[in-house]
Amino acid sequence: MSLTNAPDPEIRKAVVKQDLENVLHPIVQHNSLEKSQIVVTGARGSTIVDHDGTEYLDTMAGLWCVNIGYGRTELADIAAEQMQQIAYYPHTAMNLPAARLAEQINGLMGGGYHSYFVNSGSEANEAGFKIARQYQRHEQAKGAFRYKTISRYYAYHGTTLATLAAGGMGDRKGKFEPLGGNEFVHVAAPTCYRCPFGLEYPSCELACVTNMENTIHGEGPDSIAEILIEPIMSSVGIAVPPDEYLPAVEKLCRKYGALLHVDEVINGFGRTGKMFAHQHYGVKPDIMAIAKGIVSAYLPIAATVVKNEVFNSFRGEEAEMRQVMQVNTYGGHPVAAAVAVRNIEIMAEEKLVERSAEMGVYFMDGLKTLLKHANVGDVRGKGLLLGVELVKDKKSKQQASSASVGAMVAFARKNGVIIGRSGGGSQYSNTLTFSPPLVITRAEIDRVVDVLDRGLAELGAQLSA
Ligand SMILES: Cc1ncc(COP(=O)(O)O)c(C=O)c1O
Repeated sequence: MSLTNAPDPEIRKAVVKQDLENVLHPIVQHNSLEKSQIVVTGARGSTIVDHDGTEYLDTMAGLWCVNIGYGRTELADIAAEQMQQIAYYPHTAMNLPAARLAEQINGLMGGGYHSYFVNSGSEANEAGFKIARQYQRHEQAKGAFRYKTISRYYAYHGTTLATLAAGGMGDRKGKFEPLGGNEFVHVAAPTCYRCPFGLEYPSCELACVTNMENTIHGEGPDSIAEILIEPIMSSVGIAVPPDEYLPAVEKLCRKYGALLHVDEVINGFGRTGKMFAHQHYGVKPDIMAIAKGIVSAYLPIAATVVKNEVFNSFRGEEAEMRQVMQVNTYGGHPVAAAVAVRNIEIMAEEKLVERSAEMGVYFMDGLKTLLKHANVGDVRGKGLLLGVELVKDKKSKQQASSASVGAMVAFARKNGVIIGRSGGGSQYSNTLTFSPPLVITRAEIDRVVDVLDRGLAELGAQLSA
Protein backbone atom coordinates (compact mmCIF):
# COMPACT_ATOMS: atom_id res chain seq x y z
CA MET A 1 0.00 0.00 0.00
CA SER A 2 1.40 3.40 -0.86
CA LEU A 3 1.53 6.06 1.81
CA THR A 4 0.06 8.81 -0.35
CA ASN A 5 -1.52 11.68 1.52
CA ALA A 6 -4.17 12.58 -1.02
CA PRO A 7 -7.63 11.74 0.35
CA ASP A 8 -8.69 8.37 -0.98
CA PRO A 9 -11.56 6.29 0.47
CA GLU A 10 -9.91 3.03 -0.67
CA ILE A 11 -6.64 3.83 1.08
CA ARG A 12 -8.65 4.95 4.09
CA LYS A 13 -10.36 1.56 4.30
CA ALA A 14 -6.99 -0.20 4.17
CA VAL A 15 -5.50 2.05 6.88
CA VAL A 16 -8.47 1.43 9.19
CA LYS A 17 -8.09 -2.33 8.77
CA GLN A 18 -4.32 -2.20 9.29
CA ASP A 19 -4.74 0.01 12.34
CA LEU A 20 -7.50 -2.01 14.02
CA GLU A 21 -5.48 -5.18 13.56
CA ASN A 22 -2.22 -3.73 14.92
CA VAL A 23 -2.50 -0.54 16.98
CA LEU A 24 -3.33 0.00 20.67
CA HIS A 25 -4.58 3.59 20.98
CA PRO A 26 -4.41 5.91 23.99
CA ILE A 27 -7.49 6.96 26.00
CA VAL A 28 -10.16 5.87 23.47
CA GLN A 29 -12.39 2.82 23.72
CA HIS A 30 -11.32 0.49 20.95
CA ASN A 31 -14.82 -0.60 20.11
CA SER A 32 -15.73 3.05 19.51
CA LEU A 33 -12.89 3.20 16.96
CA GLU A 34 -14.41 0.23 15.18
CA LYS A 35 -17.60 2.28 14.68
CA SER A 36 -16.13 5.66 13.85
CA GLN A 37 -12.66 6.98 13.19
CA ILE A 38 -10.79 9.96 11.90
CA VAL A 39 -7.88 9.04 9.63
CA VAL A 40 -5.90 12.26 9.35
CA THR A 41 -4.16 12.79 6.09
CA GLY A 42 -3.53 16.51 5.94
CA ALA A 43 -4.09 19.79 7.72
CA ARG A 44 -3.65 23.53 7.38
CA GLY A 45 -4.32 26.43 9.71
CA SER A 46 -7.02 25.22 12.09
CA THR A 47 -8.43 22.55 9.77
CA ILE A 48 -7.63 18.85 9.55
CA VAL A 49 -8.57 16.61 6.62
CA ASP A 50 -9.76 13.00 6.82
CA HIS A 51 -8.73 10.46 4.19
CA ASP A 52 -12.32 10.48 2.92
CA GLY A 53 -11.90 14.20 2.15
CA THR A 54 -13.99 15.47 5.10
CA GLU A 55 -12.62 18.63 6.67
CA TYR A 56 -12.90 19.40 10.38
CA LEU A 57 -12.27 22.66 12.18
CA ASP A 58 -10.08 21.54 15.08
CA THR A 59 -10.88 23.71 18.10
CA MET A 60 -8.52 21.66 20.27
CA ALA A 61 -5.31 22.18 18.22
CA GLY A 62 -4.80 18.42 18.42
CA LEU A 63 -4.19 17.90 22.13
CA TRP A 64 -4.04 21.60 23.11
CA CYS A 65 -0.71 21.91 21.29
CA VAL A 66 -0.57 23.04 17.63
CA ASN A 67 -0.35 26.70 18.64
CA ILE A 68 0.98 28.12 15.34
CA GLY A 69 -1.50 26.03 13.35
CA TYR A 70 -1.11 23.12 10.94
CA GLY A 71 0.72 22.97 7.63
CA ARG A 72 3.81 25.09 8.28
CA THR A 73 5.98 23.35 5.69
CA GLU A 74 8.94 25.64 6.38
CA LEU A 75 9.41 23.68 9.62
CA ALA A 76 9.95 20.53 7.56
CA ASP A 77 12.75 22.32 5.70
CA ILE A 78 14.37 23.37 8.96
CA ALA A 79 14.17 19.81 10.32
CA ALA A 80 15.70 18.40 7.13
CA GLU A 81 18.50 20.97 7.13
CA GLN A 82 19.34 20.30 10.78
CA MET A 83 19.18 16.53 10.27
CA GLN A 84 21.69 16.79 7.47
CA GLN A 85 24.03 18.93 9.57
CA ILE A 86 23.89 17.00 12.86
CA ALA A 87 20.83 14.89 13.66
CA TYR A 88 21.79 13.81 17.15
CA TYR A 89 24.38 13.85 19.86
CA PRO A 90 23.59 13.57 23.60
CA HIS A 91 23.04 16.76 25.54
CA THR A 92 25.98 16.02 27.81
CA ALA A 93 27.67 17.98 25.00
CA MET A 94 26.38 21.26 23.57
CA ASN A 95 24.56 21.97 20.33
CA LEU A 96 23.57 25.18 18.62
CA PRO A 97 19.78 24.81 18.35
CA ALA A 98 19.32 23.74 21.99
CA ALA A 99 21.54 26.59 23.23
CA ARG A 100 19.55 29.06 21.09
CA LEU A 101 16.23 27.64 22.32
CA ALA A 102 17.29 27.92 25.97
CA GLU A 103 18.33 31.52 25.31
CA GLN A 104 14.94 32.27 23.73
CA ILE A 105 13.10 30.76 26.71
CA ASN A 106 15.26 32.72 29.14
CA GLY A 107 14.41 35.88 27.23
CA LEU A 108 10.69 35.10 27.32
CA MET A 109 10.99 34.74 31.10
CA GLY A 110 12.70 38.13 31.41
CA GLY A 111 16.08 36.54 32.20
CA GLY A 112 17.39 34.56 35.17
CA TYR A 113 16.49 31.02 34.05
CA HIS A 114 18.15 27.88 32.64
CA SER A 115 16.41 25.11 30.69
CA TYR A 116 16.73 21.34 31.07
CA PHE A 117 15.40 19.62 27.94
CA VAL A 118 13.18 16.54 27.85
CA ASN A 119 10.63 15.13 25.40
CA SER A 120 7.17 15.55 26.91
CA GLY A 121 5.16 17.49 29.46
CA SER A 122 5.11 14.50 31.80
CA GLU A 123 8.88 14.28 31.75
CA ALA A 124 9.15 18.05 32.27
CA ASN A 125 7.08 17.84 35.46
CA GLU A 126 8.79 14.64 36.57
CA ALA A 127 12.21 16.29 36.17
CA GLY A 128 10.76 19.23 38.11
CA PHE A 129 9.96 16.96 41.10
CA LYS A 130 13.45 15.53 41.00
CA ILE A 131 15.19 18.88 40.62
CA ALA A 132 13.11 20.26 43.53
CA ARG A 133 14.08 17.35 45.75
CA GLN A 134 17.70 17.46 44.73
CA TYR A 135 17.81 21.23 45.30
CA GLN A 136 16.34 20.78 48.77
CA ARG A 137 18.89 18.03 49.54
CA HIS A 138 21.73 20.32 48.47
CA GLU A 139 20.47 23.35 50.34
CA GLN A 140 19.10 21.86 53.58
CA ALA A 141 21.12 21.13 56.69
CA LYS A 142 22.48 17.59 56.68
CA GLY A 143 19.80 15.10 57.68
CA ALA A 144 16.87 17.42 56.81
CA PHE A 145 15.03 16.60 53.61
CA ARG A 146 12.09 18.33 52.03
CA TYR A 147 10.51 15.91 49.57
CA LYS A 148 6.77 16.51 49.34
CA THR A 149 4.92 18.12 46.44
CA ILE A 150 1.63 19.87 47.19
CA SER A 151 -0.73 19.93 44.21
CA ARG A 152 -4.47 20.28 43.64
CA TYR A 153 -7.31 17.79 43.36
CA TYR A 154 -8.57 17.35 39.78
CA ALA A 155 -5.26 18.60 38.33
CA TYR A 156 -3.55 16.79 35.46
CA HIS A 157 0.24 16.87 35.30
CA GLY A 158 1.09 13.91 33.09
CA THR A 159 0.88 10.22 32.53
CA THR A 160 3.94 8.74 34.29
CA LEU A 161 3.35 7.19 37.71
CA ALA A 162 4.78 10.17 39.63
CA THR A 163 2.94 12.81 37.58
CA LEU A 164 -0.26 10.78 37.95
CA ALA A 165 0.34 10.69 41.70
CA ALA A 166 0.81 14.47 41.68
CA GLY A 167 -2.31 14.85 39.56
CA GLY A 168 -5.68 14.76 41.19
CA MET A 169 -7.93 13.00 38.69
CA GLY A 170 -9.38 9.89 40.30
CA ASP A 171 -10.48 8.40 36.97
CA ARG A 172 -6.95 8.63 35.55
CA LYS A 173 -5.21 7.27 38.65
CA GLY A 174 -7.64 4.63 39.87
CA LYS A 175 -6.37 1.74 37.77
CA PHE A 176 -2.76 2.21 38.87
CA GLU A 177 -3.03 2.76 42.59
CA PRO A 178 -1.34 2.59 44.99
CA LEU A 179 0.88 5.33 43.64
CA GLY A 180 3.94 6.02 45.76
CA GLY A 181 3.86 6.97 49.39
CA ASN A 182 3.02 10.25 51.09
CA GLU A 183 5.12 12.48 48.88
CA PHE A 184 2.22 13.89 46.87
CA VAL A 185 -0.29 15.83 48.94
CA HIS A 186 -3.46 17.32 47.48
CA VAL A 187 -5.42 20.44 48.34
CA ALA A 188 -8.66 21.97 47.07
CA ALA A 189 -8.51 23.71 43.69
CA PRO A 190 -9.83 27.24 42.99
CA THR A 191 -12.78 26.01 40.96
CA CYS A 192 -15.02 28.96 41.75
CA TYR A 193 -18.15 27.84 39.82
CA ARG A 194 -18.12 24.73 42.02
CA CYS A 195 -16.27 26.01 45.06
CA PRO A 196 -15.09 23.01 47.13
CA PHE A 197 -16.01 24.99 50.25
CA GLY A 198 -19.44 26.04 48.98
CA LEU A 199 -18.39 29.70 49.16
CA GLU A 200 -18.41 32.60 46.73
CA TYR A 201 -15.63 34.88 45.64
CA PRO A 202 -14.69 37.40 47.05
CA SER A 203 -16.44 36.76 50.37
CA CYS A 204 -14.66 33.36 50.47
CA GLU A 205 -11.46 35.28 51.29
CA LEU A 206 -9.59 32.63 49.28
CA ALA A 207 -10.51 29.69 51.51
CA CYS A 208 -8.55 27.50 49.06
CA VAL A 209 -5.31 29.29 50.00
CA THR A 210 -6.12 28.97 53.71
CA ASN A 211 -6.71 25.27 53.05
CA MET A 212 -3.27 25.10 51.42
CA GLU A 213 -1.57 26.80 54.35
CA ASN A 214 -3.34 24.53 56.84
CA THR A 215 -2.16 21.54 54.80
CA ILE A 216 1.44 22.81 54.92
CA HIS A 217 1.14 23.00 58.71
CA GLY A 218 -0.48 19.58 58.90
CA GLU A 219 2.22 17.96 56.79
CA GLY A 220 5.03 19.83 58.50
CA PRO A 221 6.49 22.82 56.64
CA ASP A 222 9.97 21.31 56.75
CA SER A 223 8.83 18.38 54.60
CA ILE A 224 7.47 20.47 51.70
CA ALA A 225 9.83 20.68 48.72
CA GLU A 226 7.49 22.48 46.31
CA ILE A 227 3.97 23.56 45.40
CA LEU A 228 2.84 22.57 41.90
CA ILE A 229 0.24 24.72 40.16
CA GLU A 230 -1.14 24.86 36.64
CA PRO A 231 -1.92 28.62 36.66
CA ILE A 232 -5.15 28.28 34.64
CA MET A 233 -6.32 24.78 35.33
CA SER A 234 -7.27 22.89 32.17
CA SER A 235 -8.46 19.54 33.51
CA VAL A 236 -11.50 20.99 35.28
CA GLY A 237 -13.02 22.41 32.13
CA ILE A 238 -10.77 25.46 32.54
CA ALA A 239 -10.63 27.29 35.88
CA VAL A 240 -9.29 30.82 35.95
CA PRO A 241 -8.36 31.55 39.58
CA PRO A 242 -9.09 34.88 41.28
CA ASP A 243 -6.29 37.37 40.53
CA GLU A 244 -4.89 37.16 44.07
CA TYR A 245 -4.65 33.36 44.08
CA LEU A 246 -1.25 32.81 42.45
CA PRO A 247 0.46 35.68 44.32
CA ALA A 248 -0.95 34.23 47.56
CA VAL A 249 0.45 30.77 46.69
CA GLU A 250 3.81 32.32 45.84
CA LYS A 251 3.77 34.05 49.24
CA LEU A 252 3.19 30.69 50.95
CA CYS A 253 6.16 29.25 49.04
CA ARG A 254 8.42 32.07 50.22
CA LYS A 255 7.08 31.90 53.80
CA TYR A 256 7.65 28.16 54.16
CA GLY A 257 10.74 27.63 51.97
CA ALA A 258 8.96 25.62 49.26
CA LEU A 259 9.71 26.07 45.55
CA LEU A 260 6.95 27.32 43.25
CA HIS A 261 6.62 24.86 40.34
CA VAL A 262 4.23 25.95 37.59
CA ASP A 263 2.91 23.59 34.92
CA GLU A 264 2.66 25.62 31.70
CA VAL A 265 2.45 22.57 29.45
CA ILE A 266 -0.91 23.76 28.07
CA ASN A 267 -0.89 27.32 29.46
CA GLY A 268 2.42 28.31 27.87
CA PHE A 269 3.33 29.83 24.52
CA GLY A 270 0.47 32.24 24.12
CA ARG A 271 -2.39 29.93 24.97
CA THR A 272 -3.92 32.27 27.56
CA GLY A 273 -3.05 35.58 25.90
CA LYS A 274 0.37 36.02 27.55
CA MET A 275 3.51 34.10 26.65
CA PHE A 276 3.14 32.19 29.95
CA ALA A 277 -0.01 32.18 32.09
CA HIS A 278 1.81 32.94 35.35
CA GLN A 279 2.75 36.30 33.76
CA HIS A 280 -0.87 37.42 34.17
CA TYR A 281 -0.29 37.34 37.92
CA GLY A 282 3.19 38.83 38.37
CA VAL A 283 4.71 35.77 40.05
CA LYS A 284 8.21 34.35 39.45
CA PRO A 285 8.23 30.55 39.46
CA ASP A 286 11.26 28.59 40.64
CA ILE A 287 10.49 25.70 38.29
CA MET A 288 8.36 25.72 35.13
CA ALA A 289 7.35 22.76 32.95
CA ILE A 290 6.78 23.58 29.27
CA ALA A 291 5.93 21.36 26.29
CA LYS A 292 3.23 21.39 23.57
CA GLY A 293 3.32 25.01 22.27
CA ILE A 294 7.13 25.19 22.60
CA VAL A 295 7.25 23.44 19.22
CA SER A 296 3.52 23.47 18.34
CA ALA A 297 3.78 19.66 18.27
CA TYR A 298 5.80 19.56 15.04
CA LEU A 299 8.32 17.34 16.88
CA PRO A 300 8.59 16.15 20.49
CA ILE A 301 10.51 18.46 22.82
CA ALA A 302 9.79 19.91 26.25
CA ALA A 303 11.71 21.57 29.06
CA THR A 304 12.00 22.03 32.80
CA VAL A 305 12.98 25.66 33.25
CA VAL A 306 14.62 26.59 36.55
CA LYS A 307 15.40 29.91 38.19
CA ASN A 308 19.12 30.63 38.44
CA GLU A 309 18.98 30.27 42.22
CA VAL A 310 17.95 26.65 41.66
CA PHE A 311 20.41 26.24 38.78
CA ASN A 312 23.27 27.47 40.97
CA SER A 313 22.59 24.66 43.39
CA PHE A 314 23.62 22.26 40.61
CA ARG A 315 27.09 23.80 40.27
CA GLY A 316 29.90 22.55 42.43
CA GLU A 317 33.08 20.57 42.60
CA GLU A 318 33.10 17.09 41.13
CA ALA A 319 33.20 15.38 44.52
CA GLU A 320 29.99 17.12 45.54
CA MET A 321 27.96 15.21 42.92
CA ARG A 322 25.60 18.13 42.37
CA GLN A 323 24.88 17.39 38.73
CA VAL A 324 21.27 16.81 37.58
CA MET A 325 21.03 13.16 38.45
CA GLN A 326 19.24 11.98 35.34
CA VAL A 327 19.60 11.91 31.59
CA ASN A 328 17.04 11.66 28.79
CA THR A 329 18.57 10.17 25.67
CA TYR A 330 16.74 12.57 23.39
CA GLY A 331 16.89 15.63 25.70
CA GLY A 332 18.04 18.71 23.75
CA HIS A 333 17.58 16.91 20.43
CA PRO A 334 19.05 19.29 17.81
CA VAL A 335 16.33 18.68 15.21
CA ALA A 336 13.42 19.21 17.61
CA ALA A 337 15.20 22.21 19.13
CA ALA A 338 15.81 23.81 15.71
CA VAL A 339 12.11 23.46 14.88
CA ALA A 340 11.13 24.86 18.30
CA VAL A 341 13.39 27.89 17.75
CA ARG A 342 11.64 28.71 14.46
CA ASN A 343 8.23 28.02 16.02
CA ILE A 344 8.91 30.66 18.66
CA GLU A 345 10.18 33.09 16.01
CA ILE A 346 6.96 32.59 14.03
CA MET A 347 4.92 33.32 17.16
CA ALA A 348 6.78 36.63 17.54
CA GLU A 349 6.68 37.58 13.82
CA GLU A 350 2.94 36.94 13.58
CA LYS A 351 2.18 38.37 17.04
CA LEU A 352 0.33 35.19 17.95
CA VAL A 353 0.35 35.86 21.69
CA GLU A 354 -1.39 39.19 21.16
CA ARG A 355 -3.70 37.49 18.69
CA SER A 356 -4.59 34.87 21.31
CA ALA A 357 -5.63 37.63 23.72
CA GLU A 358 -7.70 39.39 21.03
CA MET A 359 -9.34 36.29 19.55
CA GLY A 360 -9.87 34.96 23.07
CA VAL A 361 -12.08 37.95 23.87
CA TYR A 362 -13.97 37.47 20.58
CA PHE A 363 -14.44 33.73 21.23
CA MET A 364 -15.49 34.37 24.83
CA ASP A 365 -18.06 36.95 23.71
CA GLY A 366 -19.44 34.41 21.24
CA LEU A 367 -19.62 31.65 23.84
CA LYS A 368 -21.32 33.98 26.30
CA THR A 369 -24.25 34.35 23.88
CA LEU A 370 -24.88 30.65 24.57
CA LEU A 371 -25.77 31.46 28.19
CA LYS A 372 -29.29 32.06 26.84
CA HIS A 373 -29.62 28.24 26.68
CA ALA A 374 -30.98 26.52 29.78
CA ASN A 375 -28.12 24.01 29.79
CA VAL A 376 -25.17 26.39 29.71
CA GLY A 377 -24.21 26.86 33.36
CA ASP A 378 -20.91 28.66 32.98
CA VAL A 379 -18.57 30.05 30.32
CA ARG A 380 -15.01 30.69 31.41
CA GLY A 381 -11.40 30.96 30.31
CA LYS A 382 -8.60 33.30 29.30
CA GLY A 383 -7.11 33.88 25.87
CA LEU A 384 -7.78 30.90 23.63
CA LEU A 385 -8.30 28.47 26.52
CA LEU A 386 -12.03 28.32 27.10
CA GLY A 387 -14.70 26.12 28.66
CA VAL A 388 -18.49 25.84 28.50
CA GLU A 389 -19.99 23.90 31.39
CA LEU A 390 -23.22 22.05 30.62
CA VAL A 391 -25.77 21.52 33.38
CA LYS A 392 -29.21 19.96 33.68
CA ASP A 393 -30.46 23.34 34.88
CA LYS A 394 -28.75 26.50 35.94
CA LYS A 395 -30.27 26.67 39.42
CA SER A 396 -29.25 23.25 40.72
CA LYS A 397 -26.00 23.29 38.65
CA GLN A 398 -26.39 19.52 38.40
CA GLN A 399 -23.94 18.26 35.77
CA ALA A 400 -25.39 17.28 32.38
CA SER A 401 -25.05 13.52 31.90
CA SER A 402 -21.94 12.13 30.32
CA ALA A 403 -24.00 10.68 27.45
CA SER A 404 -25.65 14.02 26.66
CA VAL A 405 -22.32 15.87 26.68
CA GLY A 406 -21.00 13.12 24.39
CA ALA A 407 -23.98 13.79 22.12
CA MET A 408 -22.97 17.47 21.91
CA VAL A 409 -19.42 16.52 20.96
CA ALA A 410 -20.79 14.12 18.32
CA PHE A 411 -23.21 16.78 16.99
CA ALA A 412 -20.31 19.21 16.53
CA ARG A 413 -18.23 16.59 14.74
CA LYS A 414 -21.12 15.73 12.44
CA ASN A 415 -21.20 19.41 11.61
CA GLY A 416 -17.48 19.59 10.86
CA VAL A 417 -16.19 20.91 14.19
CA ILE A 418 -14.00 19.01 16.64
CA ILE A 419 -14.50 20.17 20.22
CA GLY A 420 -13.02 18.84 23.45
CA ARG A 421 -14.48 17.87 26.80
CA SER A 422 -12.61 17.69 30.03
CA GLY A 423 -11.52 14.52 31.83
CA GLY A 424 -13.82 11.63 30.92
CA GLY A 425 -15.51 10.27 34.04
CA SER A 426 -14.37 13.11 36.29
CA GLN A 427 -16.58 15.57 38.13
CA TYR A 428 -15.83 18.05 35.35
CA SER A 429 -16.44 15.91 32.29
CA ASN A 430 -19.60 17.91 31.59
CA THR A 431 -17.50 20.81 30.33
CA LEU A 432 -16.79 21.43 26.65
CA THR A 433 -13.27 22.75 26.07
CA PHE A 434 -11.72 24.91 23.37
CA SER A 435 -8.00 25.41 22.78
CA PRO A 436 -7.70 26.16 19.05
CA PRO A 437 -4.62 27.07 17.04
CA LEU A 438 -3.78 30.71 17.79
CA VAL A 439 -4.31 31.47 14.08
CA ILE A 440 -8.05 30.71 14.27
CA THR A 441 -10.06 33.37 12.44
CA ARG A 442 -13.16 35.31 13.46
CA ALA A 443 -15.18 33.51 10.76
CA GLU A 444 -14.07 30.14 12.15
CA ILE A 445 -15.01 31.19 15.68
CA ASP A 446 -18.43 32.29 14.39
CA ARG A 447 -18.85 28.85 12.86
CA VAL A 448 -18.05 27.10 16.14
CA VAL A 449 -20.49 29.26 18.09
CA ASP A 450 -23.20 28.65 15.47
CA VAL A 451 -22.74 24.87 15.62
CA LEU A 452 -22.88 24.95 19.44
CA ASP A 453 -25.99 27.15 19.33
CA ARG A 454 -27.76 24.70 17.03
CA GLY A 455 -26.56 21.69 19.07
CA LEU A 456 -27.81 23.16 22.33
CA ALA A 457 -31.20 23.89 20.76
CA GLU A 458 -31.49 20.41 19.27
CA LEU A 459 -30.19 18.46 22.29
CA GLY A 460 -31.73 20.58 25.05
CA ALA A 461 -34.19 17.89 26.23
CA GLN A 462 -31.41 15.27 26.42
CA LEU A 463 -29.10 17.64 28.31
CA SER A 464 -31.83 18.47 30.83
CA ALA A 465 -32.81 14.83 31.47
C1 LIG B 1 -1.23 20.49 32.26
C2 LIG B 1 -0.51 19.31 31.69
N1 LIG B 1 0.64 18.91 32.22
C3 LIG B 1 1.34 17.87 31.72
C4 LIG B 1 0.87 17.15 30.64
C5 LIG B 1 1.64 15.98 30.11
O1 LIG B 1 2.20 16.26 28.89
P1 LIG B 1 2.60 15.07 27.86
O2 LIG B 1 1.34 14.45 27.39
O3 LIG B 1 3.39 15.78 26.82
O4 LIG B 1 3.44 14.12 28.65
C6 LIG B 1 -0.32 17.52 30.04
C7 LIG B 1 -0.84 16.80 28.87
O5 LIG B 1 -1.89 17.06 28.36
C8 LIG B 1 -1.04 18.63 30.59
O6 LIG B 1 -2.21 19.00 30.07
